[in-house]
Amino acid sequence: MTTIEAPRSPSRPARRGVNLEKWGWIYMRLSGFLLVVLIFGHLFVNLLVGEGVKAIDFGFVAGKWASPFWQWWDCLLLWLALIHGANGMRTLVNDYTNPGKVQTTLKVALGAAVIVLLTLGTLVIFTFDPCPAGSPAELLPSFCPAA
Ligand code: HEM
Repeated sequence: MTTIEAPRSPSRPARRGVNLEKWGWIYMRLSGFLLVVLIFGHLFVNLLVGEGVKAIDFGFVAGKWASPFWQWWDCLLLWLALIHGANGMRTLVNDYTNPGKVQTTLKVALGAAVIVLLTLGTLVIFTFDPCPAGSPAELLPSFCPAA
């Protein structure tokens, strides 16, 4: 007689320590929920409020990033979405490749891309200066005092 195991029985003995796959699964749901708020807030403020999409230019971005509120909004959006997207891609790599060199290379490339993009993106958000001191006046936007 064939015995069918209960659906939730572990396929191998449970491992000790932190279950990273479980936390990754929880992260996808929590970040997905927060991303809905952050993405729709971003689209509403940039595309609908005031003059809408026609108002977007260099000065619009400079104005938003003059406020710590929008700097932190965009920073949170960047970190949550990038890590969410990369963890989702990791799932796809696990699903479509076998363990081995190709899989490892893809995951290392993914991790490297995440580190580079998070570093550059965070630096841009917090060090952005629309009126850098010492720039030639003709290169500065009209709202800068030195222009
Ligand atoms: C409205 C915002 C978003 C919500 C609510 C959301 C929700 C989710 C959820 C719940 C999953 C897990 C699905 C599963 O395990 O079966 C998922 C997977 C994924 N998400 Fe998002 N997500 C959002 C935005 C994004 C963004 C901005 C990106 C890209 C940067 C992204 C890329 C991915 C990828 C690549 C996967 C893996 C797909 C797969 O396993 O087949 N998502 N998303």
